Amino acid sequence: MVSIPLSVLKNVAIRLLNVSANRVSNSFGGETLLLDPTVRLPKINRLYELAKDNQWNYSDYEARARKDDLTQLTKEERVAISRVVSQLYYGERGALLTSSQLATMVPDQESSAFLTTQSFDEARHMEVFARMASRLDQLHPVNPFLQLLLTDLLRTTSLIEKMIGMNLLVEGLALSVFHHLIKVFKSHPRLQTAFDQVLIVEPVEAIVRDESRHVGFGMLYLPELAKKLSMRQRIQVKARQLLWLALLYGSVKYHEKDAALVGLNYVDILTKILGDHDKRVQEMGLSVVLSGGKLHHLIPVFDGIINTLLQQEIVVQQFDGLQAA
Ligand SMILES: [Fe+2]
Ligand SMILES: [Fe+2]
Repeated sequence: MVSIPLSVLKNVAIRLLNVSANRVSNSFGGETLLLDPTVRLPKINRLYELAKDNQWNYSDYEARARKDDLTQLTKEERVAISRVVSQLYYGERGALLTSSQLATMVPDQESSAFLTTQSFDEARHMEVFARMASRLDQLHPVNPFLQLLLTDLLRTTSLIEKMIGMNLLVEGLALSVFHHLIKVFKSHPRLQTAFDQVLIVEPVEAIVRDESRHVGFGMLYLPELAKKLSMRQRIQVKARQLLWLALLYGSVKYHEKDAALVGLNYVDILTKILGDHDKRVQEMGLSVVLSGGKLHHLIPVFDGIINTLLQQEIVVQQFDGLQAA
């Protein structure tokens, strides 16, 4: 047997484990973890404190609600709304998984702690939409564009791409859609009569408060991350955003008929989503994120990509196969 001197073994072990005084490598592919408890990002720490103070429970809303009167809606309307609500469920489920991944990828303790509150928030949101979809009709399958978007978001190993995708694009989409939903609900007498306000409007307002924190986190964290990018990485980040925005667009457009049945125009929803996104990006002054007040001009391009995909029957069959699996 070959004998190895102890001093050599020690050096090899230290190199292999990348041990240093206050850092350990992050085995999940993110940045090197900072182990000392110094708070480097006080604004994120404040968001974490806010998250702890703002917890809520959907069961409490259910406990004080009257029953929905769904006879106010036709069967067709119930199915259409539950198809859309089902997509919100899948979006929240994707958000739960992605924010959990991000919590293991960021190096500092305050961001990691905040992201675990986001995971728990997303679990609550997922629960709300699952229950809403079942009350209306049932949980319907995920649409192919949302499925592609969430799959790609989950499998990307780049911290900045995942955070832009999650805390700006998906969270931004959620925030705009929920604001829009509250407005539509409040101006739609038949929906107001059919649903109990306590079961729909109040929890969605609570979700909006949670989502505002999640977007706020991205806006605080991303400018620092973006400073470290090379030119090549910047181009890659922008290309991925373009693809994800096209998939977001496809995901909303896929439910064009469902939305129209309850008086919603999908182009209005998209214009609002893209406009809100533009405003946030300009506020951050972040050149790596697609924006510039021109995103809505891309709608015809997105339309072209999505229509081409939809016309390819083989693509649709593959999606059907995935859903049935
Ligand atoms: Fe959410
Ligand atoms: Fe969120």
